[in-house]
Amino acid sequence: MENAGTVRRGRFITLEGGEGVGKSTNVGFVAGLLEDAGIDLQLTREPGGTPLAERVRQVIVAPSGEAISPLAELLLIFAARALHVDGLIRPALAAGKWVLCDRFTDASYAYQGAGRGLGDAPVRWLETQVQGELRPDLTLLLDADPAIGMARAGARGAADRFEQERLDFFRRVREGYLARAAAEPARFRIIDAEAPLEQVQAQIRTHINEYLQANVKT
Ligand code: TMP
Repeated sequence: MENAGTVRRGRFITLEGGEGVGKSTNVGFVAGLLEDAGIDLQLTREPGGTPLAERVRQVIVAPSGEAISPLAELLLIFAARALHVDGLIRPALAAGKWVLCDRFTDASYAYQGAGRGLGDAPVRWLETQVQGELRPDLTLLLDADPAIGMARAGARGAADRFEQERLDFFRRVREGYLARAAAEPARFRIIDAEAPLEQVQAQIRTHINEYLQANVKT
């Protein structure tokens, strides 16, 4: 319950999805909807979000001559996340800002847990260590058949370490995301990202407006 005189912390919204589902285009669209509604917004992304976490991001995504095991990858991602949570996300929420993050820990369950085959347990353990009780309040999942997403991502040019993966990897990632959404239906909104952009954005607008109505006192 909120006490009179204390500011309720801002809301934490995340955007998720596999490769080529239109995340980059739509994160700006979601930010615009929130800012138009008068929300004081901090836009950020993972891996990254602080100067040092962005440097760790480079290590994670850049093609590497040296093999990176799934566990090493997961640990690097959570090292970046620890920097980001402490240095940016918690302070912004405590100041009453809303935080919109392009990917967060659901991506670790989907990519490292399901895609790389580590399972949920190591992700859950690190989530508790790094985040304590912090979880997103709302997650928009852009869902598309990976064959479609990969064709779109492939058209963008040089592939990063993840984009070099094969279709069966991205099928596991998609199943991982859908399992997360099925387990937490109150937090997730699944967007059909195979639809044309206007229809994708109409779905997003509906969900954001519903969330604003429930969460912003006018
Ligand atoms: P991006 O495509 O959103 O820029 O993210 C870069 C890559 O990082 C993307 O291919 C997915 C990957 N990633 C993970 O594998 N696990 C994670 O927890 C996060 C946040 C990203």
